[in-house]
Amino acid sequence: MIFYFSGTGNSLYAAKYLAEHTGENVLINMADAVREKKFEYMQQPGEKIGFVFPVYFGGMPSVVAEFVGKFRLQSDEVPYVYTLVTYGGKAGGSVQAFQSALDRRYVTLTAAFGVKMPDNYVCMYDPATEEKARDVLGAAEADLVYAVMQINDRKNPGIPHTMMDTVMTAGMQVAYRMMRKTASFKVDNDCIGCGLCEKVCPVNAIEMVDYKPVWVKAECVHCTACINRCPVHNIQYGDKTKKRGRYVHPILNPESE
Ligand SMILES: Cc1cc2nc3c(=O)[nH]c(=O)nc-3n(C[C@H](O)[C@H](O)[C@H](O)COP(=O)(O)O)c2cc1C
Ligand code: SF4
Ligand code: SF4
Repeated sequence: MIFYFSGTGNSLYAAKYLAEHTGENVLINMADAVREKKFEYMQQPGEKIGFVFPVYFGGMPSVVAEFVGKFRLQSDEVPYVYTLVTYGGKAGGSVQAFQSALDRRYVTLTAAFGVKMPDNYVCMYDPATEEKARDVLGAAEADLVYAVMQINDRKNPGIPHTMMDTVMTAGMQVAYRMMRKTASFKVDNDCIGCGLCEKVCPVNAIEMVDYKPVWVKAECVHCTACINRCPVHNIQYGDKTKKRGRYVHPILNPESE
């Protein structure tokens, strides 16, 4: 069983890769699970339990924190539980934050992996260009192969982190809370009314009104799916994103969810 969350496809790709190569074919989107209030799961004998998600502000996306905060795992054995985080620069204290959250649910994290993937954070800086993304994704394959080998052998190589990472993450999470406010979203006049932004939002924060997106929740996960996936780059966040590029993993074609 692999639980995942992904805004622009990197973590979805990683989760699908792990599913294919570790034989754990049950993939559960944590955002869907939160929407459906489905937090209780049963481990089958010998089943490995994985969690795959992107690093946000050195920690977990809010919807992952919400899911893990209510997660319940029933099992008749001590399960092998791993996480694989994808990040654009540095995993920070994300694994430690996740581990603490799991501990509170009486589930012990056995192994952790970090895979550098293209940066998608358009609200803060220019995301990876096509060329850069190709290079980074090429290098990520080796990290994924390594993770698969470790997972299949039920090992725990750990990922390096310092006390400073944990301290920095706590500070960065304050900024995350601010950035999650949807009041900064704007739409240009090029909207073609396709509704993709509404469809891909993991927390239903967008509704189409008169063929234009309207943010109906005060806060969201800030996953950047709406901004990065809009086919005509019509969505902006603040006043800097207009000049920036967009990033979407090739696993997501413009029409897929
Ligand atoms: C809100 C937000 C915050 C982010 N913060 C970090 C960060 O603190 N460190 C980092 O290395 N990458 C950060 N990133 C980049 C993503 O972790 C990275 O691009 C990830 O692979 C995206 O995964 P996805 O395509 O599955 O959504 C951030 C991205 C977003 C949208
Ligand atoms: S994805 Fe872009 S073009 Fe499509 S409805 Fe949303 S803003 Fe308009
Ligand atoms: S509104 Fe946009 S950035 Fe916020 S959660 Fe929905 S898709 Fe992601």
